[in-house]
Amino acid sequence: MQIPIAKPFIGEEEKQAVIAVLSSGQLSMGPKVAEFEQAFAAAHGAKHGVATSNGTTALMTAIMAHGIGPGDEVIIPAFSFFATASCVLSVGARPVFADIDPETFCLSPAAAEAAITPRTKAIMPVHLYGHPADMPAFEAICQKHGLILLEDAAQAHLAQINGRFVGTWGTAGFSFYPTKNMTTTEGGMVLTNDDEIARRLRLVRAQGMNKQYYHEAVGYNFRMTDMAAAVGVVQLGRLPEWTCARVGNAAYYNQHLTSVKTPVTRPGCTHVFHQYTVRVPDGVDRDAVAKRLNDRGIGVRVYYPLPIHRQPVFQQMGGYEDVYLPETEKATQQVFSLPVYPSLTEEEKAYVVQEVNAAC
Ligand SMILES: Cc1ncc(COP(=O)(O)O)c(C=O)c1O
Repeated sequence: MQIPIAKPFIGEEEKQAVIAVLSSGQLSMGPKVAEFEQAFAAAHGAKHGVATSNGTTALMTAIMAHGIGPGDEVIIPAFSFFATASCVLSVGARPVFADIDPETFCLSPAAAEAAITPRTKAIMPVHLYGHPADMPAFEAICQKHGLILLEDAAQAHLAQINGRFVGTWGTAGFSFYPTKNMTTTEGGMVLTNDDEIARRLRLVRAQGMNKQYYHEAVGYNFRMTDMAAAVGVVQLGRLPEWTCARVGNAAYYNQHLTSVKTPVTRPGCTHVFHQYTVRVPDGVDRDAVAKRLNDRGIGVRVYYPLPIHRQPVFQQMGGYEDVYLPETEKATQQVFSLPVYPSLTEEEKAYVVQEVNAAC
């Protein structure tokens, strides 16, 4: 059996929607982009959606719209995809890394608060693997210290805390990369409830123009195409069903896996299982287990094997030698992710369980 880690689905409706855009002649920042922005924002209960070229530019746009720049610090986890840090670096600000909650793998509110300095401008938790970070706690910390709250929601479309969706606490960036819970091929979106931030997001996204050829601010070309948005509109319609399927697959694994620590979903939270990530027990060689499973046809991946602050580029930059993040270090040694995509069959799930239970 060959079971990949992810299996993006593009159906006939997506193909027809792209052809319709191509025939319409409105290829970029046209009506499909506006429709997708409104639909994605509405699906999350957010006031504004601003579509971008990818998740990285969504986060960059959010950071720039808040005026974060040189001399500012942004507190983030080191246990994430590199873009969580590169978007901070891109504006000349300094990422400050804080440790994670070992249960959810998301940034720890206590660790983040302890990392605040007079230069701290923002905190950006990541809803890692699709589990929401503790946003009520981060909201309280940001209010107490006068900080901006951002969300890296790249992996967490439709994740919720007590019925409230991620992307509605802070200014939030989502990704629609092919392996995400829904895709636009490449694409991203920023959500905000703040009218002025929404206005500034639109300036950053498209050359700082408030009307054609009048440039109020420095902006860039982070625009989404209408082909991408057309795919996004269709995929958004499929997302609730796909999310249920992911949650169902995760429940099956939770019930049947015996040899690894299965993921936790905090009370009141909806985990959308972008990844189904387990831990091997202490003392077990994770890399050997992952290799064995890959050899047996199961597309196991390690997200992420090296914390961001220990990446070569941060080592070259200097200033990160003394960063000590024990829970992050432990997680990078112990985790691996299993296929959890919506179209997994019963037979495939049973095979995954059998092989994982036998592997460690
Ligand atoms: C946590 C996280 N942040 C940011 C990104 C960046 O998104 P994109 O690949 O669409 O630029 C990703 C996606 O890969 C991600 O997983």
